[in-house]
Amino acid sequence: MISLQHLPNGFAYVEVRNSVATAKIALQGAHLFHYARHGEEALLWVSGASAFKEGEAIRGGVPLCWPWFGMHLSDDSLPQHGFARTVLWEFVETTEEEEATEVTFLLKSSATTQQWWPYHFELLYRIRIGSELTLELTTRNSDESAFSITQALHTYFKISHISNIHVKGLHNKPYYDALTHTKQIQHGDITVNEEVDRVYQEVREPIVLIDKQRSITIDNEGSDSVVVWNPWVEKCARMSAMEATSYETMLCIESANAFDDERIIEPHQTHTLRARIQLG
Ligand code: BG6
Repeated sequence: MISLQHLPNGFAYVEVRNSVATAKIALQGAHLFHYARHGEEALLWVSGASAFKEGEAIRGGVPLCWPWFGMHLSDDSLPQHGFARTVLWEFVETTEEEEATEVTFLLKSSATTQQWWPYHFELLYRIRIGSELTLELTTRNSDESAFSITQALHTYFKISHISNIHVKGLHNKPYYDALTHTKQIQHGDITVNEEVDRVYQEVREPIVLIDKQRSITIDNEGSDSVVVWNPWVEKCARMSAMEATSYETMLCIESANAFDDERIIEPHQTHTLRARIQLG
């Protein structure tokens, strides 16, 4: 079952309910902010301080960072992580199967998007909601010139407590440490006991987030980079739409094309970034 819902302030979202799971996707940003299999804990973390308000990205769920990840390289007056997460998308298609629902959202270049980025494009986002979750973001260059993008499916995973988790699959991977602006190599699993803001590179195997009661496997395609981020105490206190203890129950593991993994898309060509997320 699929329905269009509105919060009291008019903020619109699509609700999906099928035989295995429920999900909620805001039209602003095609922003998935809830996914849970029936009888199980939600997969995604969402801040209790998030406004769900037009023009402001939801703090939590899966913001889409596009067509650039992080700050714009040459103009820091442009929005961090691009504009796709704060504009309205079109809900274009649904496919329902017995145990999965696929919903598709579309964002096309317009006068609005051209104030931030001069190119013509079509961005198609397909979300498959079943016993696993698949997120697939396809960029089509409908311009006459090539363009380059960086991007991320900026997934906030809900965790029991930051002291309980470790992340497998990044051993020996080089990473860019955004806090020290240095290149490092990961040794062993990741555990978090301080602020972490890293872009792992050359990542081609699945990553596993191990928590107390569950493990989450993230298998990416069309991506060689993964961002791992937790703001920890001080940054959390300064950030918009975060609560003082938010850092304890969230960890971002972002399926990305970031930094060295920038992609150049030729006219009329496409690039697809896909994340398959399995719960165990
Ligand atoms: C992460 C970045 O992807 O997003 C962090 O690595 C950043 O540096 C975080 O702080 C949140 O960004 P924003 O724009 O949603 O506050």
